[in-house]
Amino acid sequence: MRTIVALPGDGIGKVVLPESIRLLSAAGFNAEYVNGDIGWEFWIKEGNPLPQRTVDLLEKHKIGLFGAITSKPKSDAEKELSPDLKGKGYVYFSPIVSLRQKFNLDICIRPCQSFKGNPLNFIRKNSSGGFEEPLVNAVIFRQNTEGLYAGVEWTNPPADVRTALETHPKMKFFKDVPSEEMAISTRIITKHAATRIIKAAFEYAKKYGYKNVTVCEKPNVLRETSGMMLSIAKAKAKEYPGISLWDTNIDAQMMWMTKNPEDYGVIVAENMFGDIISDGFAGLVGGLGFACSANLGDEVAVFEPTHGSAPKYEMLNPSIVNPIAMFLSACMMLDHIGENAIAAKIRKAIAKVVEEGNVKTYDMMKIRGGADVFKQGAASTLELTDAVIAAL
Ligand code: NAI
Ligand code: MG
Repeated sequence: MRTIVALPGDGIGKVVLPESIRLLSAAGFNAEYVNGDIGWEFWIKEGNPLPQRTVDLLEKHKIGLFGAITSKPKSDAEKELSPDLKGKGYVYFSPIVSLRQKFNLDICIRPCQSFKGNPLNFIRKNSSGGFEEPLVNAVIFRQNTEGLYAGVEWTNPPADVRTALETHPKMKFFKDVPSEEMAISTRIITKHAATRIIKAAFEYAKKYGYKNVTVCEKPNVLRETSGMMLSIAKAKAKEYPGISLWDTNIDAQMMWMTKNPEDYGVIVAENMFGDIISDGFAGLVGGLGFACSANLGDEVAVFEPTHGSAPKYEMLNPSIVNPIAMFLSACMMLDHIGENAIAAKIRKAIAKVVEEGNVKTYDMMKIRGGADVFKQGAASTLELTDAVIAAL
């Protein structure tokens, strides 16, 4: 039997993760779940939101299903730390980012696919004044460990960093700026990681029958880093004769995305650009309540909705949030471990519930969240799960 490390985390992660396990069981997925401690509670109690025992569990079982965590600003993190740990040098660091780094989960996949009948779907006015609703089916491959989010940055850069940078002719533009008035973030991309994410994108396109892969960068300006992504993509494309390589610039892509989102299939990008495009596409298919993701390394894989812990709603009982993003993340897990039939069955049940439209969480009704959404006809998180289970 499979063992899955269940990492509920904070806030609504504690609601949507157990609901996804309830659905997985109802769909016939036979697994054992071990609970992994992660999140704010463990920062407060232990000074570490990702205790070593949780890392060990993932090391052992390889597959994690993660809800969401709460991260708070530095001053709040200090303040909330248990009194006996204060002043002992504990520093908060986001545990999901730590997980990505510890296990080198460098391949992030974020599918953005519309469900028929979802009231949150993208619509577009056509030339005769009516509306059309093109179905979006884009899958974003985001490099998860490097690029602008790698964390190599300084405010007031040390002298040797400054000296090194000044070997570049373009630094002349900044020559009169004192270091204390300067902040620098680097965008480092390695051939190895770029090749891995681009290869993963093409492999996915091949496996699932997508006809194009778009590398979305900005090589006309970011000549070195985006240039490397593009040239690796061009070389890789030769190995996949049935798939065309398109390249777009990130800014233009955001515009095309809102005009012709149905044109795009697999899209691959650096960390920050991938973050941006995937949020953009997610907005066309229902937003955070529908946005799922996988973080894949060579050995370990962690599946999570892209939303956070939604502290606004964490105290609401019954819970009002949409568990579909978590369900779809669980389906990605099933596909990853070869349980494709169960994944397909769950996706079909979700599609049925969405299309029938009788059971909707507040976000699908386009109303403001709060305890009063039930009076307006919204379903609770548990009721939506029940509906999906009934539709299996
Ligand atoms: P958030 O994703 O928690 O919430 C943003 C908005 O979307 C809120 O209005 C929220 O109520 C709503 N929302 C989120 N998930 C929903 C769902 N399943 N159904 C319906 N509505 C939903 O992001 P926010 O507010 O920026 O951050 C809250 C906390 O979550 C912060 O501490 C942040 O650091 C953390 N966070 C954690 C992430 C993770 O665990 N991977 C990702 C993003 C934020
Ligand atoms: Mg994001």
